[in-house]
Amino acid sequence: PETSLTGTALNAGSQNITTITGKNTQAWGYKNGILGPTFRIQSGSTVSIPFTNGLTEETNIHWHGLLVPAAMDGHPDQMVMPGKTFNYSFKIDQRAGLSWYHPHPHEKTGKQVFMGLAGLFIIESAEEKALNLPAGAYELPLVIQDKRLNTSGGIDYSPTMDEVMIGYMGETIIVNGVHSPFHNVATRTYRLRVLNGSNGRIYNLALSNGNAFTVIGSDGGLLPAPETVTDLLLAPGERVDLLVDFSKSALNSEVYLQSSVFSGVNSQGRQAFKIVKFVVNKAETDSFKLPTSLPEIAPISSSATTKIRTFDIGVGMGTSGGHGGSMAMKGMHTINGKVYSGERIDESVPLNSTEIWEFNNSAGDEPHPMHLHGTFFQVVSRTGGRSRLIASEKGLKDTVLVMPGEKVRIIIKFTNAGKFAFHCHNLEHEDDGMMLNFEVK
Ligand code: C2O
Ligand code: CU
Ligand code: CU
Repeated sequence: PETSLTGTALNAGSQNITTITGKNTQAWGYKNGILGPTFRIQSGSTVSIPFTNGLTEETNIHWHGLLVPAAMDGHPDQMVMPGKTFNYSFKIDQRAGLSWYHPHPHEKTGKQVFMGLAGLFIIESAEEKALNLPAGAYELPLVIQDKRLNTSGGIDYSPTMDEVMIGYMGETIIVNGVHSPFHNVATRTYRLRVLNGSNGRIYNLALSNGNAFTVIGSDGGLLPAPETVTDLLLAPGERVDLLVDFSKSALNSEVYLQSSVFSGVNSQGRQAFKIVKFVVNKAETDSFKLPTSLPEIAPISSSATTKIRTFDIGVGMGTSGGHGGSMAMKGMHTINGKVYSGERIDESVPLNSTEIWEFNNSAGDEPHPMHLHGTFFQVVSRTGGRSRLIASEKGLKDTVLVMPGEKVRIIIKFTNAGKFAFHCHNLEHEDDGMMLNFEVK
């Protein structure tokens, strides 16, 4: 269901739905069943979303990818207690793009998202509309998630210690809440807007017939230039905007969007698996021509940089005192040896300053998609590991994948004042403590 209405109420609750395997069972959702409504909002509008917590535990909503004031960001400090209502309201003042929303209670984010709480938030603009990208029936928002089901078909969230280490993964892949989905398509170009809404699983997106596809956007909207690829990594929290030309596939063929094998990860990525089936069953010609250049993104100039901060990310060995913070316990996920503490401000950043942040995973053996609240950033460099940026990293990002052995540098201009979190978007790592606070003032 899509809604362009503001004032649409969301209500987190446990709901009886016919889920995934067709059995009548419980999941969590914001409206009717798993996943909330997709909002479609024009840039420039003001949004007002009354939210009621119908769960028996605290929750809230974080607007991932929306540049909202700190008080509306859904920081783990800002909980909505069971039975209470909070009105999220903010002005959308940013480029067009695909964002999403999900709960953010510290130590419970993984569980609440896995149980079904998440939704898409699409921002549209006149600038983007002028490009005449495939729209309507030819634009498909896709939320990819993996679920583990219990014997009655309900969602099972019960990570073991090992699963806290690697991230909680399910064996059942669902798209927009549906298991084994298929979609009939015509022989023309489609725009697939994909969110990896999984807790811990990374996908290497590819088409089963080996055809190339074109990456036109990522977390913060369109890229400055399209790039054609045959596969593309997508980590939890990341979004990509893809053009797939089904006129290159035979009429009456079936083409899967699948995850193909990739390396650099422990127990995932070893085998290919299917995500969604496209049945090419209608001949149709389109006159769609992709512009060779897309709206410009001014590079953030590194000569304006006033500070370089470095963050060692991974599993803390031993303890480290930190600055009056929690002690990192052996085996917990940490940033610079620290685990999350709600009150503590870990980094103080001057308002309107430009900084380079480096995430160092050179000693680690797990992938970490690192995410900042309250801002977009540009990826400057990756050294070690893959030693290059991939297509989706050449625009504005809010989440960047740092594989084992890699150091990734990002550049950020901090224009949004207040206290925000940054963390690994592997939600088990985040809940395990791999999150810090920064304050912009
Ligand atoms: Cu999508 Cu702090 O997260
Ligand atoms: Cu976020
Ligand atoms: Cu991580």
